[in-house]
Amino acid sequence: MQQTRGVFIALEGIDGSGKSTHFRLLVQYLRCRGYTVCATREPGGTRIGERVRAILLDPGHRELAPLAELALIYAARAQHLAEVIRPALAQGKVVVSDRYNLSSFAYQGYGRKLGLGLVGAMDAIVCGKTQPDLTLVFDVPARAALRRATSHRSRFEREGVAFLERVRQGYLALAAQRRRVKTIPTDGPAPDVQAQVRRAVSALLQRRLPPRR
Ligand code: TYD
Repeated sequence: MQQTRGVFIALEGIDGSGKSTHFRLLVQYLRCRGYTVCATREPGGTRIGERVRAILLDPGHRELAPLAELALIYAARAQHLAEVIRPALAQGKVVVSDRYNLSSFAYQGYGRKLGLGLVGAMDAIVCGKTQPDLTLVFDVPARAALRRATSHRSRFEREGVAFLERVRQGYLALAAQRRRVKTIPTDGPAPDVQAQVRRAVSALLQRRLPPRR
């Protein structure tokens, strides 16, 4: 939303969608084009948020209740907004976040079945008008994603294929409803996927922040 001077882009997708690779490539590309980029991630992005992240991802925390999970995620997000995202946007930076609030709608709303009403209520309190100008969802079938994400399995990755596919369908449904959310299929070669990312981001930046050089 256009309530700040900067531009806010979030990258989303199920674990193993290749999102983090495209995140790195996009940040590199924008810096080369002369933009001042604030590259960050969720859960985390701050000292306190990274501690919350460790609680959330720990596969030993099997007893963590879905509502406690949601509250922890939004606690970390409130800190992230206060310390990193809102100041960067106020300074006119391009904020690129590896995950933001669409993760909560997809993972907690659909995956954990908490529902969109509850997540939306938390979101209105914590994020308010600080919504991404563009959210890109990297789409991949859950089975293929699980094959890619083999090492150090987090609490979420251990949920298995049915959970991950529910999250994926959630992302697709959300993208179909929201104007500022765009789905990018990841079945093609990585350079083609990155080209789509750049096209979508460049179109947004052209309208909002012409490059400095
Ligand atoms: P991470 O290892 O960063 O996964 P990835 O590389 O796929 O982004 O772990 C982040 C995990 O946190 C991921 O499995 C999704 C989960 N998550 C939620 O469930 N809800 C949220 O709102 C966020 C931000 C993340």
